[in-house]
Amino acid sequence: MSQRFAMTICIVQAATLVIFGLAGASALAQEPVKVGMVLEMSGAFADIGRQILDGARAYMKANGDTVAGRKIELIVKDTTGAAPDIAKRQAQQLIANDQVDFLAGFGLTPNALAAAPLATAAKTPMIVMNAATSIITTKSPYIARVSFTLPQITAPIATWAMKNGIREVYTLVSDYGPGIDAETTFKRTFEGAGGKIAGEVRVPLRNPDFSPFLQRIKDARPQAVFIFLPAGEQPVAFMKGFNERGLEKAGIRLIATGDVTEDGMIEAMGDTPLGVVTSHHYSVAHDSPQNRTFLKAFADLDNAHRPNFMAVGGWDGMAAIYEVVRRLHGKLDGDQAMNALKGLKLDSPRGPVTIDPETRDAIQTIYIRRVQKVNGKLYNVEFEQVPNFRDPSRE
Ligand code: PHB
Repeated sequence: MSQRFAMTICIVQAATLVIFGLAGASALAQEPVKVGMVLEMSGAFADIGRQILDGARAYMKANGDTVAGRKIELIVKDTTGAAPDIAKRQAQQLIANDQVDFLAGFGLTPNALAAAPLATAAKTPMIVMNAATSIITTKSPYIARVSFTLPQITAPIATWAMKNGIREVYTLVSDYGPGIDAETTFKRTFEGAGGKIAGEVRVPLRNPDFSPFLQRIKDARPQAVFIFLPAGEQPVAFMKGFNERGLEKAGIRLIATGDVTEDGMIEAMGDTPLGVVTSHHYSVAHDSPQNRTFLKAFADLDNAHRPNFMAVGGWDGMAAIYEVVRRLHGKLDGDQAMNALKGLKLDSPRGPVTIDPETRDAIQTIYIRRVQKVNGKLYNVEFEQVPNFRDPSRE
């Protein structure tokens, strides 16, 4: 081989290296940040998936879809309901096949619990946008939750009831994680303050028939009934039964967590919820510039529905992901992402939120609200608040 020829090959090789090197780097720069959304998009809980996804998409529409030079891409999987085996398989596919940078979504507790071990094994950050049983964040160090927990939203209504002359309460909750958290917390707080539990009942998560329970409660004649049901169609059915069986006429008051009078479904409930007092972390009626921005962005995307707290979970979950990508300058790593999430502050439509560095759960204001008509429509109007409130069961 002549010296000249050898030199030419060397130059070509070097050039090739430079070209491929650059191409490789730019391919990396253009590779999207993949967010694998495990959501309840069909079946009896389809409303949950739609709210969360619309909230997430509204955030992306309002804030652009590129952060630190990288496009943000959502990959959506439909669990079809409370289906832990499906959710687990989908989380596995998202990690192994799609190589997602984040797992996110999770409206229902069983689906979040099923994915937790996979987040740990793959060191993939998992952003819980709704599922609210307290223990979820203890199931993986790679979980951060931007939504709420049931003990956090239940204790304030128990305290409010006691302070407002309610002494005897019957509890009715959905028979799975969040319902049991709500029942336990209500009982502990209310009895701890001197109140009496007149009776308690747990209704099945799937296809509950409220009639026999409503009759039992009516016969027990408590001063009030406290309920937790997952947001969506069940609270609408409950309100219908509450009205038809005449519990209100029998003088039984209704108190609840805000899941029951949530903004997305409240208009389907007729006038039955008027006057119902609840505690929760978000109301569409919350008066702040951040909430107005959120409501406008949501309406730009979907003006056929009112958003609810789950849409805010989707919105804030994306805000958290954007901030992590920004802080890591687009170079994502599971452990570094978790460090960025611990202590993160969100300027949320609900008010200020901090992700507790210890529990990776939201520290936030819980509001006491009353259902009222404003301009002819039902809203949860906030009238008291407990700022910087943590999950009391984790204290
Ligand atoms: C849950 O499954 O964790 C869940 C679902 C709906 C709610 C609250 C919690 O409204």
